Amino acid sequence: MPVGTLYGISVGPGDPELLTLKGLRLLKQSPVVAFPAGVRGQPGIAQQIITKWLRQEQVLLPLTFPYIQDDHLLMQAWKAAAGQVWHYLSQGADVAFACEGDVGFYSTFTYLAQTLQHLYPPAEIQIVPGVSSPLAAAAVLGLPLTLRHQRLVILPALYTATDLKNVLRWAEVVVLLKVSSVYRQVWDVLHELELLEHSYVVERATQPGQVIHHDLVNKPNLALPYFSLLVVQAESPDR
Ligand SMILES: C[S@@+](CC[C@H](N)C(=O)[O-])C[C@H]1O[C@@H](n2cnc3c(N)ncnc32)[C@H](O)[C@@H]1O
Repeated sequence: MPVGTLYGISVGPGDPELLTLKGLRLLKQSPVVAFPAGVRGQPGIAQQIITKWLRQEQVLLPLTFPYIQDDHLLMQAWKAAAGQVWHYLSQGADVAFACEGDVGFYSTFTYLAQTLQHLYPPAEIQIVPGVSSPLAAAAVLGLPLTLRHQRLVILPALYTATDLKNVLRWAEVVVLLKVSSVYRQVWDVLHELELLEHSYVVERATQPGQVIHHDLVNKPNLALPYFSLLVVQAESPDR
């Protein structure tokens, strides 16, 4: 019997209509739909995004990816998740894995796919690209992310004040992901470099609780959710 295919489907930043037509088709036709399990009994963001597109007869497969740094425990979680997916693939059933934003942009799906391929080499994997958060944030801000010759840097997390200053001196546009835990330190750097008026925070871009902060000068202490990012236009073409 031919094995099924694992589809890594980018479901976009929040608005369910930001799924691609291809992603939606594969999501609807796959008998099994996997996604990162939510925490404290709440559905995770990818599950929330796709709920309106699911059929009752589809099997839902929440996979646990703990938010920890311990490599050994993480590997155990990826192996367990790969085993759960292989259970269906080996019976010829396709599995659609829903990933918030784009599946190739800082996503847990990559670890799942690599572990699956390593443990079960016959597994077939296909990736469907989609809308990632920096582009969604630019859209809701009503700004182009970049123009003309502008250099863009995206920092995923764990940036130091020195890294940030160096990047802000080199690039014209900087996007900071996972900014919620370091917002105050970032604010101090932006203040020092006089960039607060050219910086924007977007909370939950295109999700129901979306909030936009345009002027950060008087906002040194924002309490931001995990789904927040900061865009700095370190030098815009009109300045
Ligand atoms: C692990 S990364 C995942 C990125 C995701 N795969 C993407 O394509 O955007 C998580 C970080 O992306 C950013 N992010 C993802 N979705 C977002 C959204 N809808 N609004 C604001 N920030 C978002 C936040 O900075 C969050 O901490």
